[in-house]
Amino acid sequence: MSMTQPVSSPSHPVVRSLRVCRLGTALTGTVAVPGDKSISHRALMFSALAEGETRIVGLLEGEDVLRTAQAMRALGARITRENDGRWHVHGCGLGALHEPADVLDMGNSGTAARLLSGLLASHGIMSVMTGDASLRRRPMKRVMDPLAATGATFLAREGGRLPLAIKGSATPAPLTYRLPVASAQVKSAVLLAGLNAQGQTQVEEPVPTRDHTENMLRHFGAHVTVEETPEGGRIVRLEGKPRLVARDVTVPGDPSSAAFVLVAALLVSGSDVVMTNVGLNPLRTGLFTTLREMGARLDVTNERTEGGEPVGDLRVQASSLQAVDVPADRAASMIDEYPILAVAAAYATGISRFRGVEELRVKESDRLASTVALLEKNGVRTKVDGNDLIIYGTQGAIPGGGVVETHMDHRLAMSASVLGLVAENPVDIDDTVFIDTSFPGYFALFNNLGAGFAAA
Ligand code: S3P
Repeated sequence: MSMTQPVSSPSHPVVRSLRVCRLGTALTGTVAVPGDKSISHRALMFSALAEGETRIVGLLEGEDVLRTAQAMRALGARITRENDGRWHVHGCGLGALHEPADVLDMGNSGTAARLLSGLLASHGIMSVMTGDASLRRRPMKRVMDPLAATGATFLAREGGRLPLAIKGSATPAPLTYRLPVASAQVKSAVLLAGLNAQGQTQVEEPVPTRDHTENMLRHFGAHVTVEETPEGGRIVRLEGKPRLVARDVTVPGDPSSAAFVLVAALLVSGSDVVMTNVGLNPLRTGLFTTLREMGARLDVTNERTEGGEPVGDLRVQASSLQAVDVPADRAASMIDEYPILAVAAAYATGISRFRGVEELRVKESDRLASTVALLEKNGVRTKVDGNDLIIYGTQGAIPGGGVVETHMDHRLAMSASVLGLVAENPVDIDDTVFIDTSFPGYFALFNNLGAGFAAA
C-alpha cells in the first residue's frame, strides 16, 4: 500500500513547476514538521527483523520511506497503516527475510538503497535493486566494497551504479571496517550486515556521524558499544545474532525538514515561528550551531527524550545574519542542510565559507553544482575553492529572477522556494514534485504560516 502515487518512477512523468514571489508579510504561527526520514527508514527496517509487532508513531509518510515499507513487505514483513496514522509492523525475525519475487525499486532514496544492501548481503537470498534516474547515478561502491567481505556477491552497472544484483551470504562473516568517508549510510550498511553474522562487527568512523542506527538497534535489544578514539572519531561494535524484539517507536520531527522553515523565518522580516517536537540529536544539529554563530535568534524549549532521541520545541524569530566560516569537521552533522544554509549565507552580510563539502557532490543531485547554480542564477556570487564553497552575501538584497533546475533533488527545490520568498524578483522552480520524498505537505505547512505559495 502506497500513500500517494509514486512521484519518482524512472520515467518521472509528473512535473510541478512553481513561481515564487517575494513575501511582503511575516511568517507566524506554530507548526509540526513531518517525522525524521533517517529514523523512519530504520524503524521500518529494524522492526521488520524483530520478533513480534512494533507500533510506529509519527512515521514520515514521504515517498522515500514508503519505498522502504514496500521493500520490507517484499522481504516478508507485514506492514499496515491504521487510520490514526500509526504503523504496525509484524517482523519476520532476524535471518528470515524472504527472497523478493521482483525487483526492489527504492525510488529516490539513497538511504533506503544503502541500508538495505547491508541486510540483503547478509541473508542467503538473491535480490535486485533499482531506483529513479537520480538514485541510479549515485555511487553504491561505497557499500559494495565493504559488504563483499561478508561473502555476498554484487553485480552492478559501470561505476557501481544501480540496478544492482545481490546474492547474499547465508553465513555472512562479521566485518571490521574503517570508513574512508564520513557516512552514516555506509556505517549503517556494515552494522546491519553484522546483525546476521556470527561474532563481532566493528566500524570505525573518522568523524562521528548520525547514530540513529546504534540507538535504535539498542532499543530493539542488540548489544552495541561505542568507543571514542583519541583522534575524535568513534569505533562502533555490534554483537552478531542478537535477539531483536519488537518495541514501539516514536519518530521525532525531522531537523533537516525544520531547517527550511527555520531559515525562512529568520530571513522573512518580522517572522516568529514555533516548531514543536523537533529531533535534537547532537549529531544532526550542526545547522543550529552555525545559524547561531551567524546571529540567529533561535531558542529551544521543552527539551526531553522520546524513544531514545532528544527532542524539543524550536522558536525562531527573524534576525539579521552575518557571514560564517563553517569548519569541515561540522559537515557530517549538517550534511543535508548546506543548500538551505547557502540561501541564508546569500542573504547575510559578508563572505561565507563552507569548508570540506565534497560529499555534496554525491547527493540526490551534485549539490555543490546545483547549489552554486541556484545562487548564481539568482544574482548571488559564489566560488568553489577545492572542496570549499564560498558565498558572497548580498546584505538582504538577493536579486532573484532565475529559473532554478532542481535535478530531482527535494532539498534543492525547497531551498529555491525559500530563496524566492526573500528575493527581489520572482524565482521559477522547474519541478517541486520531489519535495514529497521527504516533506509531504510542505507548501500547506508554509501557507499555514502565511507564505502564500501558489498551489504547487
Ligand atoms: C543519512 C545519512 C546521510 C544523509 C542522508 C541520510 C542516513 O548520507 O545525507 O540524507 O539516514 O543515514 P551519507 O551517509 O551518505 O552522508
